[in-house]
Amino acid sequence: METEAPVAATWPPRYRIHKYWSRKPADLVAERIAAATSPGDLVLDPFCGSGVAPIEAAALGRRGIGVDVNPFAIFLARTTATACDADALAAAGARVLAMAERDEAVWHETRCRRCGRRARLAGTVSHGSALVAVLVRCAACGGTAREEPDVADRSRERASGAAGDGGAPRPPVFVGWQTRKLVRAGIADFGELFEPANLRAFAAIREAISVEPDETLRPSLQLALTGALAQGSRMIADTGAGGGGASWKINVYWLPARRLALDPFRCFANRLTRVVSARRDADAVLGGQARPAFVCADARELAGIVDPGSVHHVFADPPYGGEGIQYAELSALWSAWLDPALEPAFAAEIGENPTRGRDALTFASGLAEAFRAVAKVLADDGTMTVTFASGDRRSWAALDGALAGAGFAVTRAIDVGRSAPGLTQRTSTRATRADVWLECRRVGYPS
Ligand SMILES: C[S@@+](CC[C@H](N)C(=O)[O-])C[C@H]1O[C@@H](n2cnc3c(N)ncnc32)[C@H](O)[C@@H]1O
Ligand SMILES: [Zn+2]
Repeated sequence: METEAPVAATWPPRYRIHKYWSRKPADLVAERIAAATSPGDLVLDPFCGSGVAPIEAAALGRRGIGVDVNPFAIFLARTTATACDADALAAAGARVLAMAERDEAVWHETRCRRCGRRARLAGTVSHGSALVAVLVRCAACGGTAREEPDVADRSRERASGAAGDGGAPRPPVFVGWQTRKLVRAGIADFGELFEPANLRAFAAIREAISVEPDETLRPSLQLALTGALAQGSRMIADTGAGGGGASWKINVYWLPARRLALDPFRCFANRLTRVVSARRDADAVLGGQARPAFVCADARELAGIVDPGSVHHVFADPPYGGEGIQYAELSALWSAWLDPALEPAFAAEIGENPTRGRDALTFASGLAEAFRAVAKVLADDGTMTVTFASGDRRSWAALDGALAGAGFAVTRAIDVGRSAPGLTQRTSTRATRADVWLECRRVGYPS
């Protein structure tokens, strides 16, 4: 293995549009595609996730196609890559916010302890079922403080609990690997991940988006909403005066005993700002290029989607097996809040999942089948880049076997630095190899 270690830049704004798990660093992806292909070539990513490789390919004048079995990933990738009027989006977002706040802001107000005026409730801290602190942000005097709840805070809290869920989507908590903490705690539905007032606020935002007259803007608005959910949920542990920690830091749904619930309108407004700059950035880099195509499908069924022998370069970032990310499970909350909701592809996902009876062998055979399908659509002289991150020997064996079985040989292996934010968190001390990029060429054909 070579020792050079390219270091990824942070993500450009177009990929800050929404969280996705194990998103690849755009600069390195683009460099790789530029080196391996010529303008007009067809570049396929059979596990495209948030769409980085097809989008970077298109930005370079290649024809990009992304396939992923997770419908949320395809929704995200497509929305990122579709042309959009960013100013109109910002205006629509402001309208959505105003409409939702008109009905629901009353549950997010408190009294400024400093000047006595009405102030915004920037967050609430609860321990078990008890409200233990309120975060006050006063526009009038500029004060921000963490305070003891007063009588009005407590009665508002009780009343909001009795006010209903505002029509929020509340799918039942399914038995899964990344829901195991909720199942163990007896949480029955995903609505319980939110304080009642926040659930109502998000439902009001969702409702306001559904009546936005310009329907081309709705997907972007929906991404601002789904991107805000975790931040405005109960999944943030309260860390005292310092505020909260990361909602998703352990890649699992959970309910910390002492939690911070942030102002949902502010969460949405923050996400909206990111979505607007993402859309501007994507339009700037994609400019007059043909936009990439995204197809929701199982990589094992590429034959029906891409012509045999037509692909010049494959960029493949498959699931990593072992204790890897459960993409369908972790996208389930977002998927439920889209309108119409999307059905997560629990069954077709390649990966290990102890609660679904999928083990290392299932992973290995899924991967092998997917790479055989990839080999069939690749041109004879086509090349492939595979990125992989795992500390699990069996996962590496599965990948080695899948590549060999599909007729690929690795010509170069590169360790990639991990400076890009949010790259998969599995750089634990157990990790033996992480974020390796394998350059492959064809030495045979799949059986
Ligand atoms: C490591 S992630 C890819 C992340 C992507 N490179 C990015 O930059 O966002 C692996 C992806 O494989 C997808 N996947 C899992 N099983 C699949 C299958 N059978 N067919 C197609 N995609 C699958 C998952 O949904 C996930 O999005
Ligand atoms: Zn004040």
